[in-house]
Amino acid sequence: MTNSAIVTQELTKRYSDEVLALAGVDLAVQANTIYALLGPNGAGKTTTISILTTLAQPTAGTALVAGFDVVQQPAEVRRRIGVTFQETVLDVDLTGRQALWFHGRLYGLSKAKCNQKIEELLTLVELESAADRRVGTYSGGMKRRLELARGLMTEPEILFLDEPTLGLDPQNRAGIWHYIRDLKEQRGMTLLMTTHYMDEAEQLADCVGIIDNGRIVTEGTPQQLVEQMGADVLRFHGHGPEAEFLTRINSLSFVENAVRTNGQLHIGVDSGNKRLVELVQIAGATGFVIEDIAITKPSLGDVFLQVTGRQFRDE
Ligand SMILES: Nc1ncnc2c1ncn2[C@@H]1O[C@H](COP(=O)(O)OP(=O)(O)OP(=O)(O)O)[C@@H](O)[C@H]1O
Ligand SMILES: [Mg+2]
Repeated sequence: MTNSAIVTQELTKRYSDEVLALAGVDLAVQANTIYALLGPNGAGKTTTISILTTLAQPTAGTALVAGFDVVQQPAEVRRRIGVTFQETVLDVDLTGRQALWFHGRLYGLSKAKCNQKIEELLTLVELESAADRRVGTYSGGMKRRLELARGLMTEPEILFLDEPTLGLDPQNRAGIWHYIRDLKEQRGMTLLMTTHYMDEAEQLADCVGIIDNGRIVTEGTPQQLVEQMGADVLRFHGHGPEAEFLTRINSLSFVENAVRTNGQLHIGVDSGNKRLVELVQIAGATGFVIEDIAITKPSLGDVFLQVTGRQFRDE
């Protein structure tokens, strides 16, 4: 027996000859944890969620959600999950309360249960006072909170959140993060969320899978991922024989990783202050002229760059 709430093996989705959206995704999400799929636009995040929530069929591979196969046992899966979508699918002509009511009734909740859940969830997402207003009058943050409440109407074991804070301002994002943490900690839920915000993954996730071109390119706790980079990242801006400089410093024992991006060199080291002088000397010896230097703490963006060789678009 494993404690995995979600397990996929070689999950593959081909939309057409040209578009291979998932190229073999292996996931294992432990029960009562938050897993964040972090990746740039078009990486395959929504496709993964669509398959796991039985809204799309995989081309190949398998996926178990709450122990049930998404292709063979979709009804069993649906009974145990909730989902909030990337694009809002709320009917703007309903009030918040009505939106929750129809959703609950559609999923077979009794009237009494529906009313009970609505009161509880409106309180949770702090929409009590707006409950009887049309959704069309809600702000973006309020809509997101209502979506979250709707995903929770059926008391899911596992909640899928596709870009839960997309387009929200920092204050609203922090609010949503608070509810998400609560769902795990107070209600024992398992959450699989997608995001293209580094800070969101860093703040919330027990485990982060970085997805790029339909593959998980690296996975770990945010801390593990960032530690791969070394304790500090030195950013050098300059000109000269860059490739030679990079080759030389990549062979140093205290350099975890050195790559070039956007005209900058990102060098992961064990201690920025201690190693700076040595690196500057090597630059001098190689003929690489440094124009600007910054010492920063590594971010998941640096990890993304390290594993894909590309800058994360939204960093
Ligand atoms: N219904 C579809 N038909 C054809 N191609 C699709 C379809 N849905 C997605 N794709 C393609 O599959 C790839 C993965 O898309 P997906 O929506 O899963 O990415 P994403 O990681 O969610 O991106 P974003 O951050 O923009 O939401 C993209 O190349 C996309 O164009
Ligand atoms: Mg998406």
